[in-house]
Amino acid sequence: MIRFALSKGRLAAESAELLARCGVDTSVLQEDTRKLVLESADKKFGFFLVKPSDVPTYVEAGVADLGIVGKDTLLEEDKDLYEMLDLKLGECRLCLAGYPSRRDTLTNPHLRVATKYERTARRVFLERGEDIEIIPLHGSIELAPVTGLADVIFDVVQTGSTLKANGLVVLEEVFTGITARLVVNKVSLKTKSGEILPLIQRLKEVLA
Ligand code: PRP
Repeated sequence: MIRFALSKGRLAAESAELLARCGVDTSVLQEDTRKLVLESADKKFGFFLVKPSDVPTYVEAGVADLGIVGKDTLLEEDKDLYEMLDLKLGECRLCLAGYPSRRDTLTNPHLRVATKYERTARRVFLERGEDIEIIPLHGSIELAPVTGLADVIFDVVQTGSTLKANGLVVLEEVFTGITARLVVNKVSLKTKSGEILPLIQRLKEVLA
């Protein structure tokens, strides 16, 4: 059996649809259930439904053979696994954003940056030689500049509608081409190559 760690949330439906197009029986994923471990009817595939930020952990540990997760999460988690394929799903950008009237904010030597990508933000500003304060948050990041908790945010922007609804704009695109990726456990790629490699080939054909 091939075991997948799949991201719950915005990538879930698109990931299931892509796998179905590759011949994976994903009908069990359509069920309205609170179960977190699911199996395809033919028992060829298992699915673990996990928070996006936990997908790399499951794949690195080998509990899951394969995972589908955003590049933003891979940058942040920096786990020991193979990133095999860009699945071109859920494209977004990792940006610094804030108030349009304060475009000079980024040069503030005591910049306060709110983010759920703490390690990535730290790396970005370290490379620039800038000493900033990171304010780690878990969600609703746009609220931080609005309430004065932070000067700017470092966050994913997809449609831009959350920024717009809160009066914020992109100040700088830091990483573009943030899409879902297929990741593979290093041992599984060897021990289950007979199942994994044909699946990767089918994914490539469907994506082409
Ligand atoms: C993400 C991100 C932004 C929003 C961007 O949050 O943190 O808030 O999506 O998307 P948009 O550009 O299409 O508006 P998510 O919806 O995952 O929820 P969260 O606030 O709970 O992290």
